[in-house]
Amino acid sequence: MSKAKVLLTGGAGYIGSHVAKLLTRNGYEVIIIDNLSSSNPRKIYGKLYKVDLKEEKSVLEILRKERPDIVLHFAAFISVPESLEKPFLYYENNVGNTIKLLSALRKAEINNFLFSSSAAVYGIPDVVPVSEAAELKPINPYGETKVMVEKILRDMAKAQEINYISLRYFNVAGADPEGELGPTYKQPTHLIIRALKTAKGEYPYLEIFGTDYPTPDGTCIRDYIHVMDLAEAHILAMEYLLSTRESLVLNCGYGKGFSVREVVSTVKKVTGIDFKVVETKRRAGDPPVLVADNSKIKKILKWEPKYDSLETIIKNAWHWELKQ
Ligand SMILES: NC(=O)c1ccc[n+]([C@@H]2O[C@H](COP(=O)([O-])OP(=O)(O)OC[C@H]3O[C@@H](n4cnc5c(N)ncnc54)[C@H](O)[C@@H]3O)[C@@H](O)[C@H]2O)c1
Repeated sequence: MSKAKVLLTGGAGYIGSHVAKLLTRNGYEVIIIDNLSSSNPRKIYGKLYKVDLKEEKSVLEILRKERPDIVLHFAAFISVPESLEKPFLYYENNVGNTIKLLSALRKAEINNFLFSSSAAVYGIPDVVPVSEAAELKPINPYGETKVMVEKILRDMAKAQEINYISLRYFNVAGADPEGELGPTYKQPTHLIIRALKTAKGEYPYLEIFGTDYPTPDGTCIRDYIHVMDLAEAHILAMEYLLSTRESLVLNCGYGKGFSVREVVSTVKKVTGIDFKVVETKRRAGDPPVLVADNSKIKKILKWEPKYDSLETIIKNAWHWELKQ
């Protein structure tokens, strides 16, 4: 049997580009739709159509021409603080354009779909590590957009209009260990990237937002997952969906958390640079602790992380950062 043809929206972005590389390595044919609005790719794996998802007609033409077996939907805006300042932009792109994409998929009769969801759907969870069964109560517009799309997909799947897997990523970090790919955000907001860029001298200091959270050292705790382990989860999820057609929602994280202070000290250790850190007040929209219960993905997809170490994540990201 020949390998599936896979279309990635947002495949020029950080996570999509790593997935595209792994798919290509595994013999899949990769097609990408990306408008390059928020990424600055150094290398593209696959055939790129520089198209905005809001152009439903163009998207439909691509789908009819390429006839992918499955669509992996990464394209979205991703900054929590920005979503609080410009909520409409987030609903328009993350929800409105996803509906346009789903509409084009229906017209082209393509019904296998992987969705990039987020731990932001949980808001401030009552129980940590948080499982997929937990109540969804996002505390920022970004998280709301992910919940809305998940609800649409759930209802469509119930009515047999789509087969989907929603992957709820926790904090994705690190870079391709071969040094070819890494984050290329135009406006990086993620802690590890900001810390490394501060070590490199691109920013005068690193801000810690909030030191009075109910955590052992007062700073927020997150579950950092290496982008290559996440890419592997996509391949497994895609193969599972194509063979079983069973719709699922799965957490993607390691099941352990690190505080902001722990991340900062690991960045200082890995880089050997003692950069300036400024403690400031809490930022709106940040839950104190987000750690995944990952038992479901491990059981169903037999996913086994290979890079489960904060130091490895930071080393790979530093290697990438030094080349930029
Ligand atoms: N990075 C994380 O830690 C994280 C965590 C949870 C969920 N996610 C989700 O993963 C997905 C990918 O995130 P990323 O970190 O790779 O971000 P990214 O910004 O690097 O990638 C998103 C890509 O989508 C493209 N895009 C955005 N809007 C588009 C549109 N309307 N038409 C065409 N292309 C468009 C951008 O140009 C970019 O290349 C997003 O859906 C995000 O919400 C990311």
